[in-house]
Amino acid sequence: MIDELDSKIIKLMKTVNERTLSRMNEPYQVATKTHFNDLVTSVDKENEQYIDDYLRRVDPDCQILSEEGLGTRDIKDVAGHVWIVDPIDGTLNFVKQRNYFGIMLALYIDGQPTLGYIMDSKNSRLYHGGPGRGVYVDDQKIEAPGNLDLRDGLIAISSPLILENEYHLPAVAESASGLRMYGSAAMEMIGMITGELVGYVSHLKPWDLAAGRAMAEELGLVVKSIDGTTPDVLSSNLVLIATRQASQDIAKIIG
Ligand code: IPD
Ligand code: CA
Ligand code: CA
Repeated sequence: MIDELDSKIIKLMKTVNERTLSRMNEPYQVATKTHFNDLVTSVDKENEQYIDDYLRRVDPDCQILSEEGLGTRDIKDVAGHVWIVDPIDGTLNFVKQRNYFGIMLALYIDGQPTLGYIMDSKNSRLYHGGPGRGVYVDDQKIEAPGNLDLRDGLIAISSPLILENEYHLPAVAESASGLRMYGSAAMEMIGMITGELVGYVSHLKPWDLAAGRAMAEELGLVVKSIDGTTPDVLSSNLVLIATRQASQDIAKIIG
């Protein structure tokens, strides 16, 4: 059942990405949500509708938590199959840079990460996997990243956290080899999975974290809320993803 769903979702992710890349070259609508730089486009909404419709066909009893609210936005519990959908992650990049955005989808069963998918859209590379399944980029297995310490690697921290000097995060950045800000949780999660980053700190909504968490944990990375607890699947969390060593290094700085 899960293997069959997995094969179907891999095809879905590729189809949605092809649609996204072709829609980029046609006119689309852009609207603001909570703030002038919090954008949603008609492509986000079309993707979400396509994904939600597909999930309802292949997994009829599931619950769907999708960012733009076309699925069931306010699901009450994590019982059974819960699909968590980010139809375009990095919408600001999609609009302004036309690069560095992705599509994310995850299946949690009874609250446990089961399958995660992150499409690196411009490169048409699909990262997928989950607990006990391994993690792959397309058909190629990804080895677990080395357990590097903070000073030997790059860290991504979302810009508001640095600008507002929260949790001594500028000091964390100074202790790393370098600071990176990709503007897309999807791209930053890929950075963690591939070992390009040793840490990533950001306020993440359920659809920003779900897919990356399913893969990062399988690769032995630490995924936790900044207070050390396990992130809640249905809430926004201030999240740290890191190698085990970098997570200890960061904990010493943020106290
Ligand atoms: C956003 C991006 C951004 C992160 C925000 C997310 P969206 O997702 O991943 O990097 O810092 O917290 O909301 O809105 O483009 O899907
Ligand atoms: Ca989004
Ligand atoms: Ca997002």
